[in-house]
Amino acid sequence: MRQQLKTEDRSSEHTKINTTNSFSHKNGMKEREKYWKKSYGDDSTFAQGYVYNKNQSKSVADNPQNQNCEEEVGRLESFPGSDATYRILEVGCGAGNSVFPILKVICNTPGTFLYCCDFASGAVELVKSHSSYNSAWCSAFVHDVCDDALPYPFPDEILDVILLVFVLSTIHPDRMQGVINRLAKLLKPGGMLLFRDYGRYDTAQLRFKKGHCLSENFYVRGDGTRVYFFTKDEIRNMFNLAGLTEVQNLVDRRLQVNRKKKVKMQRVWVQSKFQKPLLLSVNNSEEAMKKYPYG
Ligand SMILES: C[S@@+](CC[C@H](N)C(=O)[O-])C[C@H]1O[C@@H](n2cnc3c(N)ncnc32)[C@H](O)[C@@H]1O
Repeated sequence: MRQQLKTEDRSSEHTKINTTNSFSHKNGMKEREKYWKKSYGDDSTFAQGYVYNKNQSKSVADNPQNQNCEEEVGRLESFPGSDATYRILEVGCGAGNSVFPILKVICNTPGTFLYCCDFASGAVELVKSHSSYNSAWCSAFVHDVCDDALPYPFPDEILDVILLVFVLSTIHPDRMQGVINRLAKLLKPGGMLLFRDYGRYDTAQLRFKKGHCLSENFYVRGDGTRVYFFTKDEIRNMFNLAGLTEVQNLVDRRLQVNRKKKVKMQRVWVQSKFQKPLLLSVNNSEEAMKKYPYG
């Protein structure tokens, strides 16, 4: 099953959900709201859902009782997926392009749990309302990966796999390293971060007209969404700086031909796997159990 979770087979880019990034947090929220209202109607619960979820996370963080260690342990022991032995997180899950194929597999794989998050509450609601969503093996939640102060609904160092697919490119380059550093903390030793995103000189980059370039290799589309085009060296540097080790880092180039429109596109994607090193300095299993009680 775990083999089936590889991202190599994802041969195309994902453009169905193009929400904005956190270029400016305040403006980003407005843009996201506009996007989701445009896409899912005026009665979409973007604003309410976002505020509700933010308050919810805040009330946990602000609770002085949580400074008490025992309370904290009690809270963490009962987090969603605490009983699982294999845990996956998809960051920026959008409408569920990866979530649903994964759910199809894990519903028959006891012990596996999927977390998925997006900063757009409309996306999270879509995922949660799908017939294959089941809280016994999945937890979808609203989360802005650029907001370092927001806690995740599970402890650090418990994830076996993180999927980051066409999300990092939407985030402002100044914030990317912080996002990868935070995600690396969520991985358990030996855990893997699977990455796929736009590569440098993809036809989409070359076709941007003057005035769309925000900074080097970072552009704004007509609909206000932003996109960065990576080299594999940039990805290696960023992920290595976060303490992760390269397992795979390749450029996937494909010629896409649309015969009807008579258009050719040279697609360029970067696809990578980076692993959190296994701990070598843990002296005995008792110490390891204290540090990693969640398996
Ligand atoms: C291009 S879509 C990709 C969706 C999905 N990963 C896929 O491959 O189909 C980018 C997604 O990342 C989400 N996103 C962008 N910035 C984010 C952030 N700071 N925190 C959480 N989600 C974010 C967007 O809302 C959007 O759903």
